[in-house]
Amino acid sequence: MNRKAVGITITQHILKQQRENPQATGAFTTLLTELIVAAKVISREVNKAGLVDILGSTGEINIQDEQVQKLDVFANRVIIERMQHIGQLCCMGSEEVADLIEIPSQYPKGNYILLFDPLDGSSNIDVNVSIGTIFSIYKRKNEGNQSEVLLDEVLQPGIEQVAAGYFIYGSSTIMVYTTGNGTGVHGFTLYPSVGEFLLSHENIRIPEKGKIYSVNEGNYQYWDERTRALVDYFKEKDKSSGRPYTSRYVGSLVADFHRNLLKGGIFMYPADNKDPKKPHGKLRLMLEANPLAMVVKEAGGYASDGQGPILEIDPKELHQRIPLFIGSKQDVEFAEAFLSGKAP
Ligand code: AHG
Ligand code: MN
Ligand code: MN
Repeated sequence: MNRKAVGITITQHILKQQRENPQATGAFTTLLTELIVAAKVISREVNKAGLVDILGSTGEINIQDEQVQKLDVFANRVIIERMQHIGQLCCMGSEEVADLIEIPSQYPKGNYILLFDPLDGSSNIDVNVSIGTIFSIYKRKNEGNQSEVLLDEVLQPGIEQVAAGYFIYGSSTIMVYTTGNGTGVHGFTLYPSVGEFLLSHENIRIPEKGKIYSVNEGNYQYWDERTRALVDYFKEKDKSSGRPYTSRYVGSLVADFHRNLLKGGIFMYPADNKDPKKPHGKLRLMLEANPLAMVVKEAGGYASDGQGPILEIDPKELHQRIPLFIGSKQDVEFAEAFLSGKAP
């Protein structure tokens, strides 16, 4: 019986991309390879959750003013501890940590900046719904500089990202990432028996137009008139424009995004007046919107804050929140035109 050869591993894929990039030094390969190890450790814990005391909240409130889940803390710690010693980073930024995370002086520094949401979809941890990790990689502007990294070196627009992607811990663990510049978006599935991520979704392209809209309608009363009208639009009956769309909302951004990336559709987290401290909605520009905006753009889609491209926003703070409309190009461009009054 001819055994099916193991497919292309993520490591082979990264090395192939490294060979095709004349400036590559292997630093990026080291960075991504170590991040993948961290994700495998988190995936194992997520899939064991419920068997060990890893569920529930720690009773603390984090910088985001949200209940901290034990798995948030665990995932955050795993990534920081794994990534700080590899000698490729000059600093890190985490959704769970208020300030920039410095590289301890005993470790060599590198030129990359790693920003991440260690565990996305925390409210779904205890109910066995898909959650994930989102990551965004920038290069330090003045490379080779061994001095401490200043925040304004980190606050670069999303268009400057050198790589971005996410891990989704669901019925299987999948990694999706891109290095931009036409290299495409590729998905890898973790085969626990092999312990490797194998290529499973080569060159993902998001459908131009979808049939799915994804938004938390429980916030309807907190939206402005234009936003309400936009969401109502997707529910109206009009065969010629394929409406009404189907509603799908998981409550984990990575899960809602990944479904729309593969099937087409629009995910929306609009600004709302629910919490005066969060007038620009809930999602974070640097740690959630920018990485997914890079992925969706490379896959042929688009991401907007309702007025313009997410990737061109000049960030002001590490934990800055931003309204997010992301997915199929036609749907998101329509939403942006509708919200900024350029469409009916
Ligand atoms: P996180 O768990 O990292 O805080 O992210 C949760 C986010 C995102 O995953 C999801 O789209 C959104 O929260 C859901 O928010 P609502 O429960 O307000 O709909
Ligand atoms: Mn998140
Ligand atoms: Mn999170």
